[in-house]
Amino acid sequence: MSQKMLIVGGSGLVGSTLAQYAMPNYDLHMTINKNKITFTNALISKIDLLEDRLAIINLIKTLNPDIVINTVAHSSVDLCETNHVIADLLHVDITKDIAIACHDMGSKLIHFSTDTVFDGKLDRKYAEEDTPNPINYYGKTRLMAESIVMEASNLNVILRTSVIYGWHERSRFTNWIIQSLRDKKMVDPFVDQYNTPTLVDDLAKSILRIIEMHVTGLYHAVGKTCLSRYEFALRIADQFGFDKNLIKPVTSYEKKQDAPRPTKSCLDAQKLEKKIGYNFCDIDTGIGFVLNKSGFTKM
Ligand SMILES: NC(=O)c1ccc[n+]([C@@H]2O[C@H](COP(=O)([O-])OP(=O)(O)OC[C@H]3O[C@@H](n4cnc5c(N)ncnc54)[C@H](OP(=O)(O)O)[C@@H]3O)[C@@H](O)[C@H]2O)c1
Repeated sequence: MSQKMLIVGGSGLVGSTLAQYAMPNYDLHMTINKNKITFTNALISKIDLLEDRLAIINLIKTLNPDIVINTVAHSSVDLCETNHVIADLLHVDITKDIAIACHDMGSKLIHFSTDTVFDGKLDRKYAEEDTPNPINYYGKTRLMAESIVMEASNLNVILRTSVIYGWHERSRFTNWIIQSLRDKKMVDPFVDQYNTPTLVDDLAKSILRIIEMHVTGLYHAVGKTCLSRYEFALRIADQFGFDKNLIKPVTSYEKKQDAPRPTKSCLDAQKLEKKIGYNFCDIDTGIGFVLNKSGFTKM
């Protein structure tokens, strides 16, 4: 009999991509909130976690899933800086509800976190052993959630990831760059914010291996290349054949954001890669994958 998987946040970039990879081999259940998703072989529940905290607890207790994947987070780091109530509720309190319900049912919880738990001052990629020190409220709440999930059960997994992209309507950064450059509009990506962008398909495939191999603990799950958003845009332009003159570098000082961002929060995924025998791709391979999936003809 297939294992029962509940994806909390099934309409998101990671959730919907994972659903496609998992669908043939799992008994799939998903939650959505504002966005719809159509999956013929999945049971879908519409839940706004901020409005109805009991609904997710009841769903986990009724379904009794083998695995719960929690992809839910607020999409705006800046909003969390000014609205602590939402950040506390969505990232901390609701994560706790989910973690306790999973523990009670004996379900394995795979929970997403982010590179913003680090301050970005280290001049190398962060390993799992490095000490987190979030510099914005979003990062603080995500770090609190990590402890909650780790303490709830030794079956659980935390995946810290970064700038997720793919050929997907919710791949925000790459869609902004591709659509703007295709329409010959200027873009102004940050030249002083470095991350390790991660192909969403790599994440989905690695989650399935984590489940199959009964992996537990905290891991960095990111692509190989540490680069700025500006360099990322240039690499996209290279492969898609767009005009690079439309890409203007901007600094964090010039383009203010409400929440401070770590300068260099690149992560090292070697620990996970060795554990599951899977290599996350470098940025050029990832962009090539997106180009290929897009069916776009190079300009
Ligand atoms: N995307 C990135 O670049 C990135 C970088 C670092 C870490 N991560 C982490 O990776 C995880 C997955 O990211 P993602 O890009 O897949 O996120 P996403 O596309 O924004 O999806 C988030 C999911 O959460 C759901 N959701 C949001 N607010 C909700 C609420 N109040 N009640 C119920 N559901 C709610 C959304 O539902 P609806 O769409 O239906 O409203 C959606 O299904 C997150 O934890 C994120 O922080 C992402």
